[in-house]
Amino acid sequence: MGDTSRDWIRLASASAILYDEYMDRQDIRRINADGRLARKTALITGGGQGLGRAIAWELAREGASVAILEIDPASGEQAARELAGAGAQARSYTADVSRSADVDAAISAAIADLGSIDILVNNAGISRVGSPTHEVDDGLWDASIGVMQSGVFYASRAVARDLIAKQLPGSIIHISSIRGFTSNPGRIAYCAAKAAVIMMAQVMAAEWGRHGIRVNAIAPGVQRTPMWERDVQRGLFDEAEYLNLIPLGRLGDPREVGRLCVFLASDDAAYITGSSVTIDGGLTTIPSG
Ligand SMILES: NC(=O)c1ccc[n+]([C@@H]2O[C@H](COP(=O)([O-])OP(=O)(O)OC[C@H]3O[C@@H](n4cnc5c(N)ncnc54)[C@H](O)[C@@H]3O)[C@@H](O)[C@H]2O)c1
Repeated sequence: MGDTSRDWIRLASASAILYDEYMDRQDIRRINADGRLARKTALITGGGQGLGRAIAWELAREGASVAILEIDPASGEQAARELAGAGAQARSYTADVSRSADVDAAISAAIADLGSIDILVNNAGISRVGSPTHEVDDGLWDASIGVMQSGVFYASRAVARDLIAKQLPGSIIHISSIRGFTSNPGRIAYCAAKAAVIMMAQVMAAEWGRHGIRVNAIAPGVQRTPMWERDVQRGLFDEAEYLNLIPLGRLGDPREVGRLCVFLASDDAAYITGSSVTIDGGLTTIPSG
């Protein structure tokens, strides 16, 4: 009988080394025009930085043309310019996702430029942390719900209207959060919006399945992005405490969320719709997560 425990240890350490090499790879710039998303066009809201920017890169690496929809024109243009420099077809559009007229105009422009939007990633978000519910003012509530809930509705509606009219299939992904199903005191509006988009993915999936449009949600845990860095710097979260809590012992890499988007957008996920996929290093498997 073989020594299975030793085999397992050897296997585990070999794959750990491979994983480290993989994470260190500098080839994030390489675009495969014949990849799994060749001839597809993806629109990513809030794609100028953080998760959205990494999602745009991962979709582009698999051959998708990319439209960045950003409230901040400088970061949107910079992200699109870099993608174009790496060989992707990329453009940026300025819009505030919480304003339906803005969203309709930007998505119409992207469709006119790029044909149709086959993949939509509703990623734009803001983090307002701190006040208990009885101290939250209307402005904080309206801004959070506007960007992370109404914005998801506006963009999904605009893209689906076009796809349904043209009888084209599509894949829509809402970036929710583990805070859509585990509470974070001091973040009533954030948690409410993130919970809402998980349900909105289910309703849209049920309605648009017959049109070949799949809709899923992703619930990331703690990702190292400018949003997280800002919240840590302001003393709202203790990174060391999270590193202790997260069973996999590290924060998430935004590229990992990007690769999950690639999977959900690709034909490999052809039978997946109405789902919510958690990507959190195991944080929500523990009671204090
Ligand atoms: N960072 C995390 O740990 C984490 C965890 C779970 C979920 N998320 C979610 O992932 C998404 C991206 O977060 P991030 O960490 O990359 O944040 P980020 O602040 O680093 O980036 C957010 C981007 O969205 C853009 N944006 C903000 N408001 C907008 C609006 N009204 N219209 C268009 N664009 C707008 C910003 O300009 C920015 O480029 C958010 O929905 C966030 O809630 C993040």
